[in-house]
Amino acid sequence: MKTLSLVALVCIPWIHTSFALDVRGPYLTDLQSDRATIVFHTENDTESIIEYREHSSNPGQVVRKQSQKGKQHVFELEGLTSGTRYSYHIVNLTQDPKELVSRTAPSFFTTPSEPISEFSFIAYGDSRDRYAPKRHNALASNFLKYKPSFVISTGDILLGGPSSSASMLSEDWTLNFFRPLKGIIESVPYLLVVGNHDQDSPAALEGIQEAFPNLKESFHYAFRYSKTHFIVLHVANQMQEFQAQKIWFSEELEKAQDADWRIVFLHVSPFTTGKYRNYEWTLSGREDFLDTCVRYKVDLVLSGHDHSYQRFHPLRATDQDSHAVVFVVTALAGTNPYPALGDEYTAKVVNKTDNFCVVDISTERLSLTAYDNRNKPFDSVTLSRNSREPGMVWRHAPLQDQIGE
Ligand SMILES: [Fe+2]
Repeated sequence: MKTLSLVALVCIPWIHTSFALDVRGPYLTDLQSDRATIVFHTENDTESIIEYREHSSNPGQVVRKQSQKGKQHVFELEGLTSGTRYSYHIVNLTQDPKELVSRTAPSFFTTPSEPISEFSFIAYGDSRDRYAPKRHNALASNFLKYKPSFVISTGDILLGGPSSSASMLSEDWTLNFFRPLKGIIESVPYLLVVGNHDQDSPAALEGIQEAFPNLKESFHYAFRYSKTHFIVLHVANQMQEFQAQKIWFSEELEKAQDADWRIVFLHVSPFTTGKYRNYEWTLSGREDFLDTCVRYKVDLVLSGHDHSYQRFHPLRATDQDSHAVVFVVTALAGTNPYPALGDEYTAKVVNKTDNFCVVDISTERLSLTAYDNRNKPFDSVTLSRNSREPGMVWRHAPLQDQIGE
């Protein structure tokens, strides 16, 4: 079958036809100067082929890679040229000769140019929508304008619960991930910080590992992009989950000391004045997290979970600390709002407004701008590597009578 199919493919001209089978994707989960990871899902067990080439006035030769037989297809494209635009599509191989030439529409991505002096990424979260993905779609339709190097969700992309499914063709995955992000994730890598809804059943767990192959190893991970070190924690329900990752986190931050910037993501918001402000699940363990972030000079912490937008003044743990950390909650993109009250540590609160953050990074500056679903900026903060605000010392004591509200 494989040999016959490959022989047939050689005879297929570089044409585009509609896809006959029910599929999800393709989408990028990684894109570096010399490599890319592209994921694609089929309804049935099949073998698939990716065809890609440089997209220019003098197109390069078509390169083909074939996946193993299955429903999940992961293509690792290596040996790419930096700063180059590529086109690609997926060809599906089936037992049905009529479907042999089924292929996705062409998609495009551009590898980053080396060295990467400046780049941007987008963070947003809590996009799950029980009714329709219109709000997520409205927000996401703005993303490509900022030419992000990647998009990262701070978690809860899925409804989960009774809607949980390991199938990429299920309604939850279709309505909350593939449909609203179509046109974006084909060309920009999408990363996930696992939220409670994304993991609340065995089916949900299986699903997110099917969608994001890197999560098969661990739900916490780290990566370097240019000279910025990114760390994603698996804190999906309560801050205490941080304890099990504290050694790994500290070691990762140790490695990150030569980076220009250190940015951390987690789903639960360590600092919030929203619905979860006095929940034990928020309160227990957050000072230890703050202390660790301050000690290793984390610059920015982005989180989700408490459905609102909140930015805090730079926080430090003690009077003696010389470094302060900016905490931002970006947690409303389709689900129900949880209004935040704000307090003396809060620099900005915006409630009932779907939001996403564009983070622009250069060697000397890190700027975060928050936008609403009409692409209107409503908050911004800039950090300079050489001139930092002293920040505020966190001395907050929870109101005991409100715990468990
Ligand atoms: Fe959540």
